[in-house]
Amino acid sequence: MSTDAEMAVYGKAAIYLRKPEKERIEAQNKPFDAKSACYVVDDKELYVKGTIKSKDGGKVTVIVNDTKEERVAKEDDVHPMNPPKFDKIEDMAMMTHLNEPSVLYNLKERYAAWMIYTYSGLFCATVNPYKWLPVYDAEVVAAYRGKKRMEAPPHIFSVSDNAYQFMLTDRENQSVLITGESGAGKTVNTKRVIQYFATVAVQGDKKKEQTPGKMQGSLEDQIIAANPLLEAYGNAKTVRNDNSSRFVSSLLCMYIQYSCGESGAGKTVNTKRVIQYFATVAVQGDKKKEQTPGKMQGSLEDQIIAANPLLEAYGNAKTVRNDNSSRFVT
Ligand SMILES: Nc1ncnc2c1ncn2[C@@H]1O[C@H](COP(=O)(O)OP(=O)(O)OP(=O)(O)O)[C@@H](O)[C@H]1O
Ligand SMILES: [Mg+2]
Repeated sequence: MSTDAEMAVYGKAAIYLRKPEKERIEAQNKPFDAKSACYVVDDKELYVKGTIKSKDGGKVTVIVNDTKEERVAKEDDVHPMNPPKFDKIEDMAMMTHLNEPSVLYNLKERYAAWMIYTYSGLFCATVNPYKWLPVYDAEVVAAYRGKKRMEAPPHIFSVSDNAYQFMLTDRENQSVLITGESGAGKTVNTKRVIQYFATVAVQGDKKKEQTPGKMQGSLEDQIIAANPLLEAYGNAKTVRNDNSSRFVSSLLCMYIQYSCGESGAGKTVNTKRVIQYFATVAVQGDKKKEQTPGKMQGSLEDQIIAANPLLEAYGNAKTVRNDNSSRFVT
């Protein structure tokens, strides 16, 4: 586990990614009795922490830690607790007791400390903070760059970087599956994956220079300019999300296309046409969907044009045959 000095590369994000050493050591040295510490089923809280007093047949008498109330529960409703060395553990697959209350409490306790990302083996579980934490800045991207999963605190950037590394080493396509209920944060995290790739792609090609007359804003600005493509097709309100994308009937896939043809042959123009085609099908395919007031309303063509910066922002430059060549895109 890292020292405070090693966490300094994450800047002001550090405190939201991993607790300071002193706090970790204190938490891990709390007194603990492995035989009696448990979680017991609770009608209101789902599970509460308790201490086993006695066992009799299939029945267990537990003292609830917070209220000191004594309760008798079925053996199946009492679950072992992990020792304090697993406090706010970053990968829940490492737990000695991998039971439901241990997983839920770990997520809850990390969330209470504003650590929203937690691994569970291959998965990265995210709890929506509903407030912006400073964990997506450029210095955080840089800190995750090239680090193996276990070398850095859990983060969507680590998932992104790993996919990127596997793509480079295995020369295989990679996918990141993002799933969850409405309002869980899928769209927000998808944008973060795009932000990561965009930043890494630009950093990776130092030789490339910005072309005068092309979009010059910060990468963040460019990503925001591309957001309409992510959000234009059918977003509407749900109980949990003012900006829900779950009414989008078709998944829009963006291909970074390495089709054949010399510079200027029409590859980028044709890629845009492919996107236009899918966009048209997506809109036509969902007749029930209505445009949401306040959302982007222009014609499909306008929306696609507004989204073009994403295609063009990352490294286009001039060649002999094409003023806006994308062959320098890493
Ligand atoms: N990591 C985060 N940091 C800050 N706010 C977040 C984060 N994730 C989600 N949110 C907040 O929650 C809202 C809903 O998130 P998002 O739109 O990503 O949900 P979703 O999973 O895509 O839902 P749906 O299935 O309805 O499209 C966001 O508009 C944002 O306000
Ligand atoms: Mg969404």
